[in-house]
Amino acid sequence: MDSHALPWNPLGDLHASCGGAAEHRDEAVARYSFAIPNAAAIEAIASSSPEGVVELGAGLGYWGRILSDGGVHVTAYDIAPPPSDRNRWYAGRAPWHPVAEGDIASVEAHPNRTLLLVWPTRNETWAAEALDLHHCSGGGAVVVVGEPPGGRTGDDSFHAMLGHLPQCLACRYHSSGSACTCNTPQLWSQVGEVEIPRWQGIDDSLSIYTRSDGPDPERRRRRRIRWASAPRRPDGPRLEVRHV
Ligand SMILES: C[S@@+](CC[C@H](N)C(=O)[O-])C[C@H]1O[C@@H](n2cnc3c(N)ncnc32)[C@H](O)[C@@H]1O
Repeated sequence: MDSHALPWNPLGDLHASCGGAAEHRDEAVARYSFAIPNAAAIEAIASSSPEGVVELGAGLGYWGRILSDGGVHVTAYDIAPPPSDRNRWYAGRAPWHPVAEGDIASVEAHPNRTLLLVWPTRNETWAAEALDLHHCSGGGAVVVVGEPPGGRTGDDSFHAMLGHLPQCLACRYHSSGSACTCNTPQLWSQVGEVEIPRWQGIDDSLSIYTRSDGPDPERRRRRRIRWASAPRRPDGPRLEVRHV
């Protein structure tokens, strides 16, 4: 199924009209979103989100608008919702769907929803913190649109929590650029993947996750991660796992 199956998807139309040529990507990102939804992606999110979606880092709310058009209830947050001047990508832009001001804590109020993260910022910790908080709150499903570890989305802790980092890269390669993930638990297990239209040179797709410890409520709230402000290894954030 391609993007044209969606009744409204100007980003998909733009991508199709230029054949995904890299020189059109910046303009497309600035006007719509970092990632291009198609009908298969929207159907996958809808079918894994019976109670709706809570989206964090929603930017212009483009995915929220298309999900909403498809009948999915979406509550979208961004730490600097457009047209805020504080948003380095979307200052001055009108959003496509309501995006409220909200940080990681906003996720906690919606454990029955699917947590949606589309192109979480590279090497920032907030998306990993959101994965942890959604898990601790009893959340059952996560959808991520982005690139694999080492790509342009998320940080090592984020990819470790999703089960995509079998070993700590900071320790393995004695790298100073990333956080030590030796104590980072895998919280989520991938249960599906959907191909989306890609810009030339971009390797993104949509992945669906459920809790690694299963839906048994007795097993919820098992772990919490304390996000220490202590420096990384050797100069960034360090994770400590606290059993509760
Ligand atoms: C790379 S952009 C992706 C935007 C949108 N998801 C898209 O695909 O177009 C990352 C977004 O995350 C937001 N963000 C950064 N830190 C955040 C935080 N702690 N809580 C919520 N949103 C945050 C930024 O303001 C920005 O809009």
